[in-house]
Amino acid sequence: MKIIQITDPHLVPHKREMHGVNPFDRLSACIKDIELNHQDAKLCVISGDLSHKGQIESYKALGEILKGLSIPYRLMVGNHDIRKNLLSVFPDTPIDPNGFIQSCLDLGIGRFIFLDTVAEGEKFGCFCEDRAKWLADVLLTNGERPVYLFLHHPPLEIGLPNMDRMRLIYGDELLARTLEPCKNVKHMFFGHVHRPTAGNWNGISFSSIRGTAHQVALKMTQTPILVRSHEPPAYGIIYINKHSSIVHFHDFLDNTAFISNADPTFQP
Ligand SMILES: [Fe+2]
Repeated sequence: MKIIQITDPHLVPHKREMHGVNPFDRLSACIKDIELNHQDAKLCVISGDLSHKGQIESYKALGEILKGLSIPYRLMVGNHDIRKNLLSVFPDTPIDPNGFIQSCLDLGIGRFIFLDTVAEGEKFGCFCEDRAKWLADVLLTNGERPVYLFLHHPPLEIGLPNMDRMRLIYGDELLARTLEPCKNVKHMFFGHVHRPTAGNWNGISFSSIRGTAHQVALKMTQTPILVRSHEPPAYGIIYINKHSSIVHFHDFLDNTAFISNADPTFQP
């Protein structure tokens, strides 16, 4: 099964530039690339920071772009989003009984869970008792199926001090305790990081990918403000089967040449 992950498009109203790039143009190019190459994907997950400041106009811009996507998609919130504005433009977005934008979806290969880790108005993430109760119920009714978890904020330190201070700070241990009884959580997919990372947290593998707009610079020491970068935008192509999960990181604006051994200039 193929799943696509897009993250952190940070759309702004009126299709303006932001941090030296045009988020609207970049997300549009990303969707075109997916349409060209991955129409066989079962789902496209956009893992938060859909908007840069949560304006309704930016969600309308997202709606305009997503008209070009033929595969089903699932929208998640990040720390830059405003739930009520997102829901006003995308009223069919699933929510839990407490109004958090979290949901689950059963596909043939397993159960996909999309968590809401947002504390609105704050950069750091939060996972509260209400959200944990919902997750516990979703895991309880899952049975033995494999579980794949998407969340915006990583619940662990990833070694980038400026990002670690805005990780899932409140409720990381609660999340770990809620997941612990379920032995079938296979992988966690993060947004928020704006960088490719991969690793393991409490026995669960995880990955993050670059966003479609600006990136976060690889700064392993604390700096007074977050340093962003113009490293290439990317999206993730996820392959899942009974035995494995694989994430490919695709720099969709890369236009460097392919090298084929059929080329007369090819040197083996
Ligand atoms: Fe972001």
